[in-house]
Formats: sequence, structure tokens, C-alpha cells
Amino acid sequence: MTAGVLSVGSYVPTRRVSNDELALTMDTSDEWIRSHTGIGNRHIASDDEPTSFMALRAAEDALARAGVSKEEVDQIIVATITPDYRDFPATANLVQRDLGVPHVGSFDLKAACTGFAYGLAVGRGLIDGGVAKKVLVIGAEKLSAITNWEDRSTAVLFGDGAGAVLLGSVDEGRGIQDSILRTDGTGAEALFMPAGGTSTRFSPETVPQDLFLKMDGQKVYNFAVRVNVEIVSELMERNGLTPDDIDYIVPHQANFRIIHAAARRAKIPLEKYYLNMEEYANTSSASIPLALSEMDRKGLLKPGMRILTVGFGGGLTYGGNYIVW
Ligand code: UT7
Repeated sequence: MTAGVLSVGSYVPTRRVSNDELALTMDTSDEWIRSHTGIGNRHIASDDEPTSFMALRAAEDALARAGVSKEEVDQIIVATITPDYRDFPATANLVQRDLGVPHVGSFDLKAACTGFAYGLAVGRGLIDGGVAKKVLVIGAEKLSAITNWEDRSTAVLFGDGAGAVLLGSVDEGRGIQDSILRTDGTGAEALFMPAGGTSTRFSPETVPQDLFLKMDGQKVYNFAVRVNVEIVSELMERNGLTPDDIDYIVPHQANFRIIHAAARRAKIPLEKYYLNMEEYANTSSASIPLALSEMDRKGLLKPGMRILTVGFGGGLTYGGNYIVW
């Protein structure tokens, strides 16, 4: 027996903001956003929908789809860079409280857009190591709360939402077969929030823009294309797979140009990549489980299918998983 995905759930805020709506308040256009990113819409959470709320809804959806009661959950992991509280308590602790599962362990995992890929590997480790039998791995983000809405170069890129998987033991030959988790810390400030932490503490003099996400778009773009190819190629090589063996690659949904360029370089048909940034934009650690949830609802995921995930983003973190569904 090894750890695998028993079910996938998701939650997306109802408020849907199109590119045209953004262009009403910002010097941008549907044409620019679509041609540079492939993004058409994003969903924006209300004040009543903090990250923990979306994470909880996604987790409840995953449990319902698995037909597993909340009492069976042993551990809750929330991958997020937009926690309800800046430092503590962990957002996972709020999910634990609101799900109503006293004594279940919970913690946040901060690996930005690679958070879900890291979370799958950690969840698998807990199960394979005998620490837990069932683990909720949730990717949840309210990026609208850390977006500088006056910076058109980042504001058009991000959205809110949550996706969750329930991990448990699956039959031999299925489940999470392999994971690669990497970081290039030299690029830590290529995508980050400059102020508010212990290195640049918040003070009355803090420039408001420094409390929002800041990005060197070109640097992150080049990094993202390179590591996409690296992770997908290495996962295939380590597991004796060719592109023909892969049913789907589920990448972090940042930008379709990154995926197109990576697919071309890796010589993998673009059709193998599942893309949904048109509807949700970049939801950081939520983007891969949101895509998996949408695929599941469409009936695209069948037992035995070979799936690769690939994440990349702030940190600069990158990584991926090989899953036999
Ligand atoms: O999870 C990882 C998250 N990060 C990413 O996915 C970001 C990776 N980077 C990118 O995808 C690209 O760098 C962007 C989409 C962010 C930018 O695309 P680009 O082709 O690198 O554009 P640019 O930054 O070089 O800007 C080109 C022009 C500039 O105008 P000028 O100086 O040439 O007159 C920008 O001011 O496009 C302008 N521009 C915009 N115009 C309309 C930048 N943002 C916008 C906008 N609407 N929203």
C-alpha cells in the first residue's frame, strides 16, 4: 500500500471579474491580458471569505466526494502564502477548528505556487511513515488581499480559490510514486512581499506598496520555463516514462505562454497539459488542486492514469509529483 489521492474538492468565490471589468479601473485591456497570459477571468473572494473559509469548503467537498467522515482525518496541511493571520496561528488550525475535528494535527506549508506539490510529498511521507492514515492537503489563496491594484503588471495575473485532496492508502502500483522539491533561494526577492516580516518590520513609515506582492516578471518568466522543463523531464526519466506514457501534465496555472514555451522545449504535445487559467487566473498553491478538481468533475481522471504535476513560483520554489491515479 502507498499513499494516493482518494478524492479532490474545491471552492471558488462566486464573484467573477473579467478582464474587461478590470479595464474599467486600470490601464489595461482584454487583448493585452489574454495575449500575454491566457487569462480571461479571475474569481475574487469577499470580506467574508478569508483563506481558511475557502480551504474549509474545499476540504468538506473532498471529504464528501470520498464518502469519508471528518473523524477519519488525522492531519491537515494548508499550503498558502495568504494566511488569515500573518504569522500565526496557522490557517490550517482554523480549518481544523471549523471542520470540528478536535486534536487533529494541522500546519501551514509555505512554498508559494509550489506549495501543493510540496504538500503532496509531505502528506505522502506522513502516511508512508505511519504517522497518519488520512491527510487533507489543501491549497488555498486569497491573493486579491496582497495584490497592489494600482500595479497593472501584477494585478491582472492573480485570483482567489482553494483546492483540496484527501490522501489515504491506495493499492500497490497506484498513488504518489515520486516527488521532486527544489528551491533557488538566490531568486527569493524576484517574487515577494517586501515589508511586514522581521527583516523589514511594519512601521508607520512603511510604504503601502511594500505590503503587497511584488514581482520581477521577466525573471520569474525565464525561471518558470526552465524549471518546468527540468521537473517534467526529470520525473519522466526517473520513472522510465516517455511523453506517450503520460496522460496529463497538470502545471501551476500561471501563464499559458510559460506552458507553451516549456512544452515546446520538452517536446511534449501541448494537449497533454491541462490548462484552466482562462477562468481562474493564477491562484498560487490552489491552482493545481483546482485544476485536478475541475478535471475530476469533467470525468477526465480515470484509475491507472499517469499524471505529472509541476509547480513553480515565489521562493523561488519548484517541483512536481508523479501520480498514478
Ligand atoms: O506563479 C508565478 C507567477 N509569475 C508569473 O507567472 C509571471 C511570469 N512573467 C510573465 O508572465 C510576464 O513577464 C508578464 C505577463 C508578467 C509580463 O509580460 P511581458 O511580455 O514580460 O511584458 P513586460 O513586463 O515586458 O511589459 C511589456 C509592456 C510594457 O509597456 P512598455 O514599457 O513596453 O510601453 C508594460 O508597461 O506591457 C505593459 N504592461 C501592460 N499593458 C497593459 C504591463 N502590464 C500590462 C497590463 N496591461 N496589465
